[in-house]
Amino acid sequence: MTTTTSLSAPPASASSSTAAAADHSQSAEALYTSDAYLQRTGGTWHLEDAEFKAKYVDQLVTRNAIEPTTVCEIGCGAGGVLKQLHDRWPVSVQFTGYEISPDAHRLSQQFRTPRLRFSLEDAFAGNEPYDLLLALDVVEHVEDCYAFLRQCRQRARYKVYHIPLEITCLTAARDCLAAGFQLGHIHHFSWSSAMSALELTGHRVIDWLWTPVGLERGKHFRTRLANCARRLLPTRTAARVLGGYSLLALTE
Ligand SMILES: C[S@@+](CC[C@H](N)C(=O)[O-])C[C@H]1O[C@@H](n2cnc3c(N)ncnc32)[C@H](O)[C@@H]1O
Repeated sequence: MTTTTSLSAPPASASSSTAAAADHSQSAEALYTSDAYLQRTGGTWHLEDAEFKAKYVDQLVTRNAIEPTTVCEIGCGAGGVLKQLHDRWPVSVQFTGYEISPDAHRLSQQFRTPRLRFSLEDAFAGNEPYDLLLALDVVEHVEDCYAFLRQCRQRARYKVYHIPLEITCLTAARDCLAAGFQLGHIHHFSWSSAMSALELTGHRVIDWLWTPVGLERGKHFRTRLANCARRLLPTRTAARVLGGYSLLALTE
């Protein structure tokens, strides 16, 4: 019988999903407050991608003539993106990075300056509003991502979100999104579902761009192979079919 077969022999994607889910048996945050995430990122906590992300944040903010004097980043990791922006933007700008991971916080200390501080405190405990809030590759890690987006919305006038677009024709056909659990991605988005999440949580999208993560940061052989096709296709088609792009959205 079909039911017996499917119960006794779950598909590969289902079994890998179960194994990965064990990491989140307490809460999604346990991955970051233990040393597991530091190990999974090879001890860097994504510092190697900081310049890439800062370049596109700078581009989006600058082309909309937004000139913040107070900037915070929620889930700032090792602090590399804030350090890059600190070095690019005027000396009048004050930066605060919030993290929940003691490991990432420890790494961020190397970037501290009088204008760049890092905090392990709850980012949403205080009331003082920021001009600009950044949440870069964080939404997909947070258990209640809608509540998180609403909290972010109230913390600053302008918000910039970087969200990986992992629902593509390829990932749907292979039903392989549980692989994202390895790096803590417990939610997955397409361009339209990411935009809906922003709008449903009260954000107004002012401007957005695709960030070519696969093309500029792709390390694996399969990504580099897919890059040949990405270069030939219009960006929207490549993002929908092959993936390898994230959404960077400026909202208020
Ligand atoms: C992929 S890393 C991105 C780090 C940094 N924003 C960057 O772009 O390099 C995801 C970050 O989200 C943080 N994070 C996870 N859950 C969170 C939560 N509930 N609230 C705040 N930060 C969270 C993690 O500790 C981790 O540093």
